Amino acid sequence: MRRIRKAVLPVAGLGTRFLPATKAMPKEMLTVVDRPVIQHAVQEALASGIEQLIFVTGRGKTAIEDHFDHAFELEATLAARGKTDALQTVEATNFPPGTIAYVRQQEPLGLGHAVWCARHVIGDEPFAVLLPDDIILGDQPCLAQLLEVYNGLDAPGANLIGVEGVEPEMTRKFGVLDIDHWHEDGVSFTAKGIVEKPEPEDAPSNMAVFGRYILDNSVLKHLDRQESGAGGEIQLTDAIDASIRDGVETLGHLCEGRRFDCGSKEGFVLANVAYALNDGVIGPGLKPAIKALVDDERS
Ligand code: G1P
Repeated sequence: MRRIRKAVLPVAGLGTRFLPATKAMPKEMLTVVDRPVIQHAVQEALASGIEQLIFVTGRGKTAIEDHFDHAFELEATLAARGKTDALQTVEATNFPPGTIAYVRQQEPLGLGHAVWCARHVIGDEPFAVLLPDDIILGDQPCLAQLLEVYNGLDAPGANLIGVEGVEPEMTRKFGVLDIDHWHEDGVSFTAKGIVEKPEPEDAPSNMAVFGRYILDNSVLKHLDRQESGAGGEIQLTDAIDASIRDGVETLGHLCEGRRFDCGSKEGFVLANVAYALNDGVIGPGLKPAIKALVDDERS
């Protein structure tokens, strides 16, 4: 097995669900407590040992590039004023040169197409994909959990996909795995297929893909065909399914932690509440205030 060094983060989406907030600002820059949504995924990837992040961007996304760069004036001002903590917070968003590469997806042709746009930067290695809308609150970074499982596999190449059980009526919002058999650990299974957004009656299981993948490089070969699938888009799910049919071992794994879908208003607000409550500084004071709000709502 080859080491996973690179991670692709597709960030080209328009964020129409959050208009007007996203009129002049990328949706990935909306904040969950004190940092943009995208920073949560970036921190997860780096804390999991990823060395290079490949952002697939589009028009109007330069705020993301600026966020992960030096901010000379701000840093100089903070240094001159002795604001060491704030300076450290800002410096922590800047990584060694070459850590982040940016490629453009010129047309919104789907998630599979976005990943395919990164193919030359990925090269011939297996790689991770993190969908930054999904953020996971837990003790161990979700990608680190997946990498631990991946590194213990014997297969020469494999796909490993983070999954969670969903209510049957929710399958139409996700990629869903077809389970071949569960492993003894009770949290991993071998998959024999994967379908994008099936109706509940067609869903092979309720094991839904959320935004964390480790993929065999052969998935890129399938994306080369540029075939569109569900919703008329080029789907990553279809390329993974094709690689399963080629014999690439593919596992689903239930990660520990609580997932929030920051691509929806409800998920985004809930993420803010959960991360705020989890914050050692503001959490304790917020808890009774949020409880009082909910109680007021009830009465
Ligand atoms: C994408 C994937 C889907 C996956 C989901 C997770 O869908 O295509 O397979 O389950 O992300 O968030 P999207 O939410 O972009 O429509």
